[in-house]
Amino acid sequence: MAQDPRESGRQELPTGEELARAGLGLTVDGAVARVTISRPERRNAMTGRTWTTLAHIGQALPDDVRIVVIAGEGDIFSAGIDLNMFTPEGVDGERSIVAGLADGSADEADLDAYISELQQGFLWLRRPDLVTIAAVRGHAIGAGFQLALSCDLRILADDARFCMKEPALGLVPDLTGTKPLVDIVGVHRATEICLTARKVGAEEARELGLATLVVGVDELDGAVDDAVAALLATNPEAAVATKALLQQAGDNTLEEQCAAERRAQVGRLTALARAMTAGA
Ligand code: ACO
Repeated sequence: MAQDPRESGRQELPTGEELARAGLGLTVDGAVARVTISRPERRNAMTGRTWTTLAHIGQALPDDVRIVVIAGEGDIFSAGIDLNMFTPEGVDGERSIVAGLADGSADEADLDAYISELQQGFLWLRRPDLVTIAAVRGHAIGAGFQLALSCDLRILADDARFCMKEPALGLVPDLTGTKPLVDIVGVHRATEICLTARKVGAEEARELGLATLVVGVDELDGAVDDAVAALLATNPEAAVATKALLQQAGDNTLEEQCAAERRAQVGRLTALARAMTAGA
């Protein structure tokens, strides 16, 4: 049973109104949460509020959620940041990213803190207690690509296109995407993809390891459902421990990783033995 958020001190999930203002949809059904990027009239472009609300969702998800699926409404994942965020007016009363710097009301430290706040919307998707899936149709540009990179699995329709557009706009990718990109494709290919800002199609994404699976457009929902069912069939505690172990592997020496495997396995075997004793 999920704990009542009020008892655990955890936030309540965003209201429907808050989600709509952030351009998001959310359903939670038992162990599966589904987040939809939902601003179709702007090609699912996202704003600062989208990412602070995503962070809020991460903090407020019930304990029994194990899988998070992120998709875009309609035939596109996301056109990335709403480019109006860079205009002095911003978007719908949301602060402009540049206005404060231009008029002197914000300094570099303020902007650093703001970007850090936005990054929280992406970081929680790495949590070991969740398996996160990006279901990608059409373009995933800039921040959209980085959102997909924040997920554990990327299931792509064959019309999917990734593009790291930021350098072409005079920016750097700063929404947590550079590390997973380099981890997956290596610094050489990541440099080429980012500095040309070219589009990477679904087939190439599969060859590069950026796509877990590529299917026909009409098969995307079914492929995601199959992945969700397979993930839910795995022992939940073992899944958490294994994801945590895999996440350390890149930074650990072999010796450190072997020690981490032993610690995790001792924990697992102890729990399994206790369960056997309790059931005897
Ligand atoms: N921000 C704000 N509005 C957008 C964005 C965006 N990122 N992307 C699309 N829109 C708007 C368009 O301005 C247009 O509005 P209008 O109907 O009022 O004219 C509407 O969405 C439809 O856009 P089209 O370009 O007509 O749609 P199309 O399907 O032809 O192309 C595509 C889609 C490829 C996504 C294209 O819109 C595009 O390249 N968008 C910009 C992508 C971009 O540069 N994103 C920022 C990357 S950097 C980052 O994310 C940090």
